[in-house]
Amino acid sequence: MSYKQTKYWSVDNFSGSEENLQVMKEAALWITKGEIVAFPTETVYGLGANALDEQAVKKIFEAKGRPSDNPLIVHIADIEQLDELVLEIPDVAHQLMNQFWPGPLTLIFKKKQVVAPSVTAGLETVAVRMPDHDVARALLRAAGVPVAAPSANVSGKPSPTTAAHVYHDLKGKIKGIVDGGRTGVGLESTVLDCSTPVPMLYRPGGVTKEELEAVIGKVDVDPTLLSLSAEQTPLSPGMKYTHYSPSGTVYLVRDRQKMVELIWRAKQEGKRVGVLTTVENEGAYEADVVVACGSREDLATVASALYDSLRTFDEREAEVIFSEVFPYEGLGIAIMNRLEKAAGGQTPL
Ligand code: TXA
Ligand code: MG
Repeated sequence: MSYKQTKYWSVDNFSGSEENLQVMKEAALWITKGEIVAFPTETVYGLGANALDEQAVKKIFEAKGRPSDNPLIVHIADIEQLDELVLEIPDVAHQLMNQFWPGPLTLIFKKKQVVAPSVTAGLETVAVRMPDHDVARALLRAAGVPVAAPSANVSGKPSPTTAAHVYHDLKGKIKGIVDGGRTGVGLESTVLDCSTPVPMLYRPGGVTKEELEAVIGKVDVDPTLLSLSAEQTPLSPGMKYTHYSPSGTVYLVRDRQKMVELIWRAKQEGKRVGVLTTVENEGAYEADVVVACGSREDLATVASALYDSLRTFDEREAEVIFSEVFPYEGLGIAIMNRLEKAAGGQTPL
């Protein structure tokens, strides 16, 4: 499917005014008509389709070039919509929803048959979340249907944190983009399976394991998240693909001295060198493209800027990219998970 013109609706500084809601109505109408529309959430931009309409959902896979075995997350505006989608809501899910919804936490439930088969890639479970973003929720309410939405990037590329990123990847391939400004969290939601006896973390994200355990006690972690072994298959289909990758090759680097050495060597080889660093170390490296991604003092700033930073290396045509690493705790776990994927699963040098 190709659209000569991808529509663009701007609702930056959304206030819920009559004018804003009119724009939401127009965008939502396309979703109810079976088209696909990108919209902001608090994590990253999503590419939405009516989750009950199989033909509409298929357009998402086509536009993104997404493998058909990778299921989508269904977005809802109100908790009451959950009953329509899932067979049962375990107690732990109630506790988590009370605490973290709306917010960057996706929960996996046993699904009802109304959910379009492509949404769940044939699985008997469905992933659901309620985004904490006024524009997203206004759009969901105006559409009146649950909306399946993966991140609105071409498969394999960093997720979009601005409407411009979406436009870059998907112009001409989708019906429209709702521009609600830059997203906040910057990394995708945490994905937790609560259909298992002990809840199982599939993807680290905006809500940390520590925060989950403070509410429901023990959480298991998909063992493939803890090792970089390529032999095991992750429990969540999407986690097996290389992701978040700029065109240049990404290497993770343990310390500053090693970084200086690697930059020097790559320059000797005539490469155009990029470095992903933080404001603390920005002045320490002489490379062609040095990008400071937030501050080590506050990892939320790193998460928020990470994907935009990775995209900068494409814009500035870096051939190799050396990235600093972050502590494996709190939000650092989600940041390192994305960086490891960008580096194709290689261990730090
Ligand atoms: O923050 C987010 O979650 C963003 C925004 C747009 O909401 N969405 C997002 O979607 O990141 P996507 O499609 O890029 O990632 C969905 C992840 C994939 O890793 C997928 O495999 C997993 O959720 N997933 C979805 N349904 C699943 C299921 N039933 N069982 C296991 N994993 C599932
Ligand atoms: Mg994605």
